[in-house]
Amino acid sequence: MSATNKYPEKVTIVEMGARDGLQNERVVSTNAKINLIEQLSETGLSHIEVGSFVSPKWVPQMADSKAVMERMIREPNVIYSALTPNLQGFEKAMESGVDQVAIFTSASEGFCQNNINCSISESLERFAPIMEQAKQQNIPVRGYLSCVVDCPYDGPTSPEQVASVAKDLLDLGCYEISLGDTIGTGTPQRVSNMIQAVHKQIPISQLAVHFHDTWGQALANIHQAITMGITVIDTSVAGLGGCPYAKGASGNVATEDVLYMCQGLGIETGVDLNKVAQAGWAICKNLNKQPSSKVSLALRP
Ligand code: HMG
Ligand code: MG
Repeated sequence: MSATNKYPEKVTIVEMGARDGLQNERVVSTNAKINLIEQLSETGLSHIEVGSFVSPKWVPQMADSKAVMERMIREPNVIYSALTPNLQGFEKAMESGVDQVAIFTSASEGFCQNNINCSISESLERFAPIMEQAKQQNIPVRGYLSCVVDCPYDGPTSPEQVASVAKDLLDLGCYEISLGDTIGTGTPQRVSNMIQAVHKQIPISQLAVHFHDTWGQALANIHQAITMGITVIDTSVAGLGGCPYAKGASGNVATEDVLYMCQGLGIETGVDLNKVAQAGWAICKNLNKQPSSKVSLALRP
């Protein structure tokens, strides 16, 4: 499989700002998070990740995810999801009423140990009871796979290793695997090789891409991925965030930048770029920082 230069008619944006974004910014108030999510809920986004049910000692920024979920006003057509690393997190996520959960592991051992304090195979064992409970309660589970190109601890990750762990997540019962370039070092050819290897194991319709923009390659990599048939893209409003366990990692590709590129390519997203930009300006004001989205800065009055 190679790039076809044919674009999909539409893509789905999965909004990461309130989770992947705010997990690596200074702590903001619960109200500020709720305002952000409520603003994003009115942009046409269909899936918003709202937080994480992880150890508050590991990620204090996400300690109020339950309060956020319980107090925010929900839009009926939006899926609100959260990360759950273990059964304890899954149970809390269920109490707070999330629509979906996500489990997360890594294609590299070094990042897995540093991020969730266990090996890849131990992480898969931990996920089994989550999958069982989720199935019983009819809760869809997304799977994140980190370090699909490079690992900050172990160096380059082989595409075959990515494919193997992605398949393990699929076999556990995840409906979709989000392929994470956690430290944003990927370039289109390497991304293409990785996606080709994964696609030998997993249908393209069950893959999403999750690019951090540390090295400025995310849009080029997304362009590569969509020409290969991937139609689900993780993005973060204003390019917020990073990852606390990947030193130097910057935020996900900015939602605004992806929306603008899709507009230009004639790809439908169903999302209102101006409204997303406004949500980004509000949270950036709260964080006392500039959006890292070029499109957001260009749009700002
Ligand atoms: P551990 O220390 O090995 O866990 O951490 P433990 O089971 O030994 O428990 C230790 C303590 O944590 C206990 O409390 C537990 O109760 C508590 P104590 O007795 O010491 O008071 N604990 C919890 N508390 C709340 N919620 C929970 C929970 N579980 C245990 N769910 C653990 C293991 C997985 C919990 C920890 O390593 C952790 O929370 N890691 C999360 C790291 C994280 O959130 N990273 C960022 C998200 S991943 C990411 O950003 C990548 C992604 O975007 C894709 C990409 O870009 O590549 C998804
Ligand atoms: Mg991430």
